[in-house]
Amino acid sequence: MKVSFPILILTASVLCFSASVDKVNGESGRNGMVVTPQAQASRVGLDILKAGGNAIDAAVAVGYALAVTEPCCGNIGGGGFMTVRFANGKSVFINFREKAPIAAHPRMYQDTAGNVIEGASEDGYLAVGVPGTVRGLEYALRQYGTLSRPEVMGPAIDLAVRGFILQPGDVEMLKRSRRKLTGDNVARIFLKDGGRDYEAGDRLIQKDLAKTLSLISTGGEKIFYEGEIAQKVVSASQKNGGVLSLKDFGEYNISVTEPLECSYRNYRILTSPPPGGGTTVCLMLNIVGGYDLKKLGFRNTQSLHKILSSMLLAYVARNYYLGDPDFVKIPLDKLLSPDYADRLRGQILPDQALDPEKLYQPIVTEGNNTTHYSVIDREGNAVSVTYTINSNFGAGVIAEDTGFVLNNEMDDFTSKIGAPNQFGLVQGKANQIEPRKRPLSSMSPTIVLKDNQVFLITGSPGGSTIPTTVFSVISNVIDYGMTIDESVNRARFHYQGLPDTILIEPDAIDSKVRQGLEGKGYKFRDFPRWGAAESILVDPNTRVFYGANDGRKTAGRAMGF
Ligand code: GLY
Repeated sequence: MKVSFPILILTASVLCFSASVDKVNGESGRNGMVVTPQAQASRVGLDILKAGGNAIDAAVAVGYALAVTEPCCGNIGGGGFMTVRFANGKSVFINFREKAPIAAHPRMYQDTAGNVIEGASEDGYLAVGVPGTVRGLEYALRQYGTLSRPEVMGPAIDLAVRGFILQPGDVEMLKRSRRKLTGDNVARIFLKDGGRDYEAGDRLIQKDLAKTLSLISTGGEKIFYEGEIAQKVVSASQKNGGVLSLKDFGEYNISVTEPLECSYRNYRILTSPPPGGGTTVCLMLNIVGGYDLKKLGFRNTQSLHKILSSMLLAYVARNYYLGDPDFVKIPLDKLLSPDYADRLRGQILPDQALDPEKLYQPIVTEGNNTTHYSVIDREGNAVSVTYTINSNFGAGVIAEDTGFVLNNEMDDFTSKIGAPNQFGLVQGKANQIEPRKRPLSSMSPTIVLKDNQVFLITGSPGGSTIPTTVFSVISNVIDYGMTIDESVNRARFHYQGLPDTILIEPDAIDSKVRQGLEGKGYKFRDFPRWGAAESILVDPNTRVFYGANDGRKTAGRAMGF
């Protein structure tokens, strides 16, 4: 089907887009709240809510807006997860994770000697999984939205066609990704005059992307999966060493299930089931739930020893058991049972770090970037979305004049059993590459309930650090009584066992405590800030919404009313 590019870009008449931004990190409101890593996208969501759209309308509009204003990470060339808790108490999980092409196979990133070919799963068309975002957003809008597709897509198209003024945080995002901005199609859009860095105050216009979004707005998902967009991506892939086919696009499907559920103290957690990262979040919460963290104290040697050991044990289980549930049998009931948490807790040594090499043994012997946003509307419908093209600017390729960057999600698979991926994750057979399979993810869009009401909406980008970030945001609030702004903006630490170093942001752990932990066998590596846990907390007594932008994303904003 061919849909011509409308001369007049659709901007829903009900939406009054304004370029001004509100406060920097925290914001409160009673009628709605949107927190995203890019202020213009937050404004789009807020305007949708103000115009009477519900949280799902706003989430879909933000999904398309971030594809324009956060091109490193927001996307239509990738995939993701959406966790929704409706005001009527029901909930749903929409899995629009990419799939491996039909021509993919377990050794596709290895040379004839069986060595992993550096970069093959990260750069260029061979790294691209079949994108799911458009089908996922379209499903959410059709099933649960109240506005039309042109109404929710209009603001994104407007931002692409008219452009937007880059703020320091936007420029930082582009400069950080310079390595990926070298291909002609990419440099032409994201470098000034195709060769120089953009500076704050410059306007970024994306005419090709505006055209693609307009085609989707008019023709729906069919144009993306069966029409000219699929044709262009497949043609570019075939000319440039990729394996994508029209059949891959034509048969791409999403999956719609219940969210994964676990509990922590008196709270219920709704999060992403496999292939998402929610299982890892729940495993950590289940193990740590056996300790009185508040009593143990905040980030001292004892409490950190328990938390770090729990993180390690949860990642070992992740990397051994988890994969796409359509392909591997995952013993979820066992993994999330109190008995299993007790057993893992029982392995934690009283005064010494666990040995990751030993724990990872069964996996290693054969036999950033993402974006998260949160929305709530006046009725209490809550949406938590994490979606991604994997690395910043994904595979670093744009097909012909489609204007959007394609993902390199294939790197989330096990390229070789025992070999680490770009996040250092050493994964097993459950996540090996197979045609039509979805790669294992760490994305964990999460909604926490208290007394059956929405209490906290959270999630984060950051590859393998996502589950530990989500864990920390939840624990900081529930165990240590922090406000959402404090919790999200606390310096973080992350441990996954292999590599055997704890990543710490500046000031995350007091130097004396660090020395104490080193004495128990832990090793540390300073790491610049990571993640962007764009979160909302609902005061259980007043029902006021508190939005918190993660200060690591200086371009982001919480906006409420
Ligand atoms: N691409 C990062 C993840 O899904 O975990």
